[in-house]
Amino acid sequence: MTEAVTRRRQTSAAVIGPDVESIGEPGRPTWNTGAMGTEADTIAATEQPVTRARLAADLAELGVAAGDRVEVHASISSLGWVPGGAQTVLLALLDAVGSAGTLVFPTQTGQLSDPAGWGDPPVPEPWIPVLRAELPAFDPALTPSRGMGVLPEVARSHPGAVRSAHPLLSFVAIGPDAASLMAPHALAPAFGETSPLGRLTAAGASVLLLGVDHGACTALHLAEHRSTWPSKREVEVSAPILDRGGRREWVTWTDLELDEDDFTSLGAAWIADGGGRTGRVGAAEARLEPMPELVEFAEAWMTTNRT
Ligand SMILES: CC(C)(COP(=O)(O)OP(=O)(O)OC[C@H]1O[C@@H](n2cnc3c(N)ncnc32)[C@H](O)[C@@H]1OP(=O)(O)O)[C@@H](O)C(=O)NCCC(=O)NCCS
Repeated sequence: MTEAVTRRRQTSAAVIGPDVESIGEPGRPTWNTGAMGTEADTIAATEQPVTRARLAADLAELGVAAGDRVEVHASISSLGWVPGGAQTVLLALLDAVGSAGTLVFPTQTGQLSDPAGWGDPPVPEPWIPVLRAELPAFDPALTPSRGMGVLPEVARSHPGAVRSAHPLLSFVAIGPDAASLMAPHALAPAFGETSPLGRLTAAGASVLLLGVDHGACTALHLAEHRSTWPSKREVEVSAPILDRGGRREWVTWTDLELDEDDFTSLGAAWIADGGGRTGRVGAAEARLEPMPELVEFAEAWMTTNRT
């Protein structure tokens, strides 16, 4: 069986390595819907610098309020040029939710997945056993996220950041609910009811999309757990982890095969149905989605539309 938790629909690749869109693809950021390219392009397209105060005001206008729990997916370049870049964006987000609010970011680490599933770029076949032996175990303090953008990496370095323990599909949170939202995070189901995503949804959190569409919306994976469709199945997943004694071991487990290929279409249907709110944060189109309602809509949509 292919080792994987995510796949593209209509393909046989079922992997969570550097080839998978949920973790970004080198040279081809899948969800870069609002991105404008290099920093020079961003400056050229910006009339006035997009300040922390402007960002916080735009977020408030969109509906982000003090005390909210918000999972954020962002393309910094889509905001226009921000003095201080991702650090300023993080500070503006913290301003918007205030000291009682909690921010959550995806910090996935597909670079630690089974190299046999990597596709873009793939690695030479003879390397695979070497990489399985050599890839480092996930370390929540050390392992960088891959394909998630610069903002989750800055969030990860915040002194109050709490990262969940999943070796491939972790999150990081900042705020009073960070610890209770982030732990536990079992190997499987990585995105089910007992995961950080399940707890966020139960807590009535929101999803904030800044310059990206629903293709980047991790919450929709919870709907995959809730929904049923004919080809729904589990797959094997593996990664190097540290055992209780602190020794690295290559571990294989099973989890739902995740599939975000229809998330953009699903999101369009949700918007057409009047779900969530659209606004502008800096130069970016932004969406604020109530996670419980979005997941409920997505569950029904998948049941109807997936085969
Ligand atoms: C892939 C993705 C991160 C690419 O977006 P991006 O805007 O190109 O990249 P980042 O958000 O990392 O921002 C860095 C870019 O901002 C731009 N930038 C640099 N300084 C900047 C500044 N001060 N102000 C604004 N933009 C700036 C640059 O273009 C930079 O890219 P470069 O370093 O390659 O030149 C984005 O499309 C995305 O998908 N985000 C969501 C990821 C996610 O949550 N996934 C969930 C998985 S389930």
